[in-house]
Amino acid sequence: MSEATLYERLGGEEKIRAIVTDIMVNHHNNPTISPRYAHTKKSDAEIIDLVTDLIGSGTGGPQTYQGMDMRTTHQGMNINETEFVAVLDDILAALTKHGVGEREKMEMLAIAYGMKGDIVHL
Ligand code: HEM
Repeated sequence: MSEATLYERLGGEEKIRAIVTDIMVNHHNNPTISPRYAHTKKSDAEIIDLVTDLIGSGTGGPQTYQGMDMRTTHQGMNINETEFVAVLDDILAALTKHGVGEREKMEMLAIAYGMKGDIVHL
């Protein structure tokens, strides 16, 4: 029997969207990074849609990610390591709030951490 995908173990699109919505709420309440999200070109709703599709497509779901790649998105922002860790903190807090399992939390953090080189110091 094949094992459930991370997408299925997270609870599918509806659950992922709820988690991403809370990640965005956490960003707005996190003083380390909240200024970054105060005047974005895209609306919160658009960014939530994009990140939901990014996670869906990256974890085995049927979504297609049609946003900009991570390097292009964050190019020129000069994001530092502290800010990157703050985003990881917000992701972890949202996953915990939604009762995601320890193993799934670690898999999500590993995926996010793997994007660091395309996000920090550009
Ligand atoms: C693994 C970590 C991260 C992921 C997966 C991620 C993902 C994304 C995605 C999918 C978008 C929208 C792309 C598009 O517009 O097509 C976005 C936008 C954005 N990201 Fe990230 N991001 C991450 C880390 C960070 C960090 C550390 C910061 C800085 C604190 C940051 C700041 C922003 C901002 C400000 C925008 C909005 C740009 C705008 O519309 O003006 N991101 N991110």
